[in-house]
Amino acid sequence: MAKHVEICPDLAAVVDRSRELVLEAIRAAIEQRGRCTLVLAGGNTPKPLYEYLATEDLPWERLHIFWGDERYVSADHPDSNQRMAREAWLDRVPIPPDNVRPMNTDGSSPEDDARRYNSQLQEFFQLEPENFPVFDLVLLGMGADGHTASLFPHTDALKVCDRAVTVGNKDGQPRLTLTIPVLNVARCVIFMVVGANKQAALSEIFAPEGNNNAYPARTVCPVNGELWWLLDTAAGGNLVDRV
Ligand code: 6PG
Repeated sequence: MAKHVEICPDLAAVVDRSRELVLEAIRAAIEQRGRCTLVLAGGNTPKPLYEYLATEDLPWERLHIFWGDERYVSADHPDSNQRMAREAWLDRVPIPPDNVRPMNTDGSSPEDDARRYNSQLQEFFQLEPENFPVFDLVLLGMGADGHTASLFPHTDALKVCDRAVTVGNKDGQPRLTLTIPVLNVARCVIFMVVGANKQAALSEIFAPEGNNNAYPARTVCPVNGELWWLLDTAAGGNLVDRV
């Protein structure tokens, strides 16, 4: 694993840098494999990046969009990660609708929808049941508690290692989430983390020793891939001499 940590002055600089890395990863994936499989993060931080990407002219038919996690709400709910990405980016560009593969939340249960997305991934990547999808690029955020995707501290989702998608749990609320093994076979993972409220968790995550169950983002280390941490000074300024 190649790990890179960049501390940028502010959110705008983090977004600028992530845009550069994302565009390079898309270009390289298409050049090498004829397509790019990109996993989107939810939350607020990536929204300006998605708005930037809406101004880019990309080979849309070769770009395939997935989500790393989803709140268990309808696709038009204000909290929906799908809705945020569509409004900021995907509904504003000519990407083929079939290339956009959200985590649907309209099944009979979160467990059913997790199984459904898992099956979708197996079909798209033409996987044997025991294999995990290898995404070209995974975008991730991190909560102040050290969660990433919807892999929350001390939850059962952290233990799931036999399938690509499971049900996360945020304070009793179900979420859909990719699992740790999927994140760790990705070719490239980019964390975008900003804000002073993330500082304490980052200190735990970058500590030589630590509790992966308490700080799930510690577990993300793509074995054969690139790992990028793009931090603003407020979040990562005290890490300068530790990274
Ligand atoms: C979600 C995300 C989650 C997010 C972090 C950071 O569904 O909320 O996938 O993992 O990335 O909570 O969120 P912010 O970017 O809003 O700080």
